Amino acid sequence: MLFRLSTRNSPLIRIAQRKTRRLDRGHRYLRRAKWAEDAAHQVDYLYADDGDDWQTQDAFVRLRWGGMIVYASRSAEEVRWAAQQLREHGGFRVDLPPQTVRSAPLLLPMIGRRGYLVAARKVMLIPPGEYTDRFTFDVRLIRDEATGRDVVLKRVPSYKQIAERLHRKFPDASPETILDRTRKLVDRVLPVFLTREVGFLSLLQRDLPRELKSRVPKPLGVERSSDGLVRTMQMEWLRLGGKPLSQLEFARQASTLLAAVHDQVKIIHMDLRLDNMVITNEGVGFIDFGSAVRVDEDLSQSPLLSKLFDEMMSACQLQRMLGQMTQTGRVTSKLFISAHQKIDRAVDLFSLALYINGPHKHPDFAGLVDVDPESKMAHKLRLLTASILRPKNPDRPSLISADDLRRGIDRIERYMDNGKRRW
Ligand SMILES: Nc1ncnc2c1ncn2[C@@H]1O[C@H](COP(=O)(O)OP(=O)(O)OP(=O)(O)O)[C@@H](O)[C@H]1O
Ligand SMILES: [Mg+2]
Repeated sequence: MLFRLSTRNSPLIRIAQRKTRRLDRGHRYLRRAKWAEDAAHQVDYLYADDGDDWQTQDAFVRLRWGGMIVYASRSAEEVRWAAQQLREHGGFRVDLPPQTVRSAPLLLPMIGRRGYLVAARKVMLIPPGEYTDRFTFDVRLIRDEATGRDVVLKRVPSYKQIAERLHRKFPDASPETILDRTRKLVDRVLPVFLTREVGFLSLLQRDLPRELKSRVPKPLGVERSSDGLVRTMQMEWLRLGGKPLSQLEFARQASTLLAAVHDQVKIIHMDLRLDNMVITNEGVGFIDFGSAVRVDEDLSQSPLLSKLFDEMMSACQLQRMLGQMTQTGRVTSKLFISAHQKIDRAVDLFSLALYINGPHKHPDFAGLVDVDPESKMAHKLRLLTASILRPKNPDRPSLISADDLRRGIDRIERYMDNGKRRW
């Protein structure tokens, strides 16, 4: 779409803002920007009017997942055309179909009383047709008709999606190999992990302390195939947002949640990367429990699971990082050295000990967590991480659990509060 670029205060945009204000009721701190504004981060609402030169592809990039592009124009034709573009893009769902908006004449002295508007929500994580190694499952937002709210749909991708991805990753593999691997993944491996995830999400809802339950997704419904395995799951959407947290607050909330997951629910997440964490109104949350394991689970009882977890661990980014850091002396604690390529709570502790130093590096968290690497707080957190990964006595580390990490963070908090306590 090519129109004049303008930053003026458009009456049409004001109407669009009023009209869409009620759409995401219950969500505080939604970020809104006009198209012509140069917003530093992704936003939840982007407003454009017929003075803007906007593109659906750019709107997709500038919006957070679940964010809305709202377009208002004096021309019904243009709004219909915009709706068509948004539908054809495939990454959006048109939530407010083209419609007339009216306002008091005072607000629209130049253009009369009538305008037209369309609003669409970004429901896909990546634009249709694009590929990424970041995600394995087909994850998108869908409207739950019963409540009118958006929920997350996570499902096993189609044969076509998986075959294309494998082909990209292994361009030299024969078509037979690709077909064979695709069948295994779609028919067995991914449904097994999704079925386990549903079980873990239910356990979390049952056993987490009440105040932490909203920081992991609640499962809402499943569809199983005839073999009983889950192929599609719906869960609550932990929408990114909220007031920016300090680095210490991020660390405190994440370690409190991890301690409860380990000690109360008695499960290990096993893939606690920043991609699998969220920052919401409710605080820091964890998602993607597909690779989780019960603390007392004996995987050797199931040849299938042992094999799947062995394969998963050899491909796992965290395990690779742990291996490299051990080799280069950045991890010396025996706790982590013996956890390498194993199912062990220490794997989660390793992730968190690392990520509390750089939560701001995740693009999704821009503007949601304030980190000043030069600050005393950041320095203290780095020391805490070092004392976990490279303790004075590597054979007998003193900080060995998520709860120890949480206590270390509490000590920093007290230090920061009174400014003089020795740490
Ligand atoms: N309940 C949820 N609330 C908010 N965001 C979610 C939720 N579930 C998934 N997401 C978003 O979707 C992305 C992909 O989902 P998820 O991590 O569950 O699957 P995946 O990455 O495909 O699985 P894996 O990490 O095992 O490959 C997440 O990184 C997150 O951005
Ligand atoms: Mg994930």
